[in-house]
Amino acid sequence: MIRFAEKKDAAVIFDLVQSFEGDTPWNEAMVKEVIDSSEVIAVVYEEDNTVAAFACLHLIDKEAELDGIATEKKFRKKGIATQLVQYLLEAAKKSCAEVVFLEVGTDNTAAISLYEKFGFTIVRTRKNYYGKGKNAFVLIKEF
Ligand SMILES: CC(C)(COP(=O)(O)OP(=O)(O)OC[C@H]1O[C@@H](n2cnc3c(N)ncnc32)[C@H](O)[C@@H]1OP(=O)(O)O)[C@@H](O)C(=O)NCCC(=O)NCCS
Repeated sequence: MIRFAEKKDAAVIFDLVQSFEGDTPWNEAMVKEVIDSSEVIAVVYEEDNTVAAFACLHLIDKEAELDGIATEKKFRKKGIATQLVQYLLEAAKKSCAEVVFLEVGTDNTAAISLYEKFGFTIVRTRKNYYGKGKNAFVLIKEF
């Protein structure tokens, strides 16, 4: 089930994000700030009392940014990220966002495929976004 992230989830969420980002700019305190922020909708997918996935949406006037999406390895390919993205896109619409954007590593074919299923399109490349030689695509979806 999808529920709002709570401060008690911060350590698990941080581990989840760190496990794929490695030298992530996030830390546990930042995760708590994100969870608490009135400009962010942060959700987890919980199964058998375990946090299986996390995602959040930053609302910035008429724009929204999808961020931090990650599913724990053993829960992948079960449609969980799909449910979270669906939920957050609905939330963006309800908040009157006109465009949702996100950054994703140019080699992250799984995530790119997920976003393209929702109608996101690549609009530009940010060189060295994740460190030297690690480029990112910027994807947007307009409502
Ligand atoms: C990307 C990620 C969040 C997908 O999570 P998930 O819960 O496994 O995703 P879903 O089961 O909902 O899959 C949805 C779609 O994603 C794509 N996808 C997921 N895993 C994939 C893989 N290994 N290879 C190719 N496409 C994949 C497919 O389009 C899939 O749709 P399909 O099942 O109809 O083929 C997960 O692989 C992950 O946590 N990766 C590490 C973190 C990350 O890269 N996050 C994105 C940061 S921008």
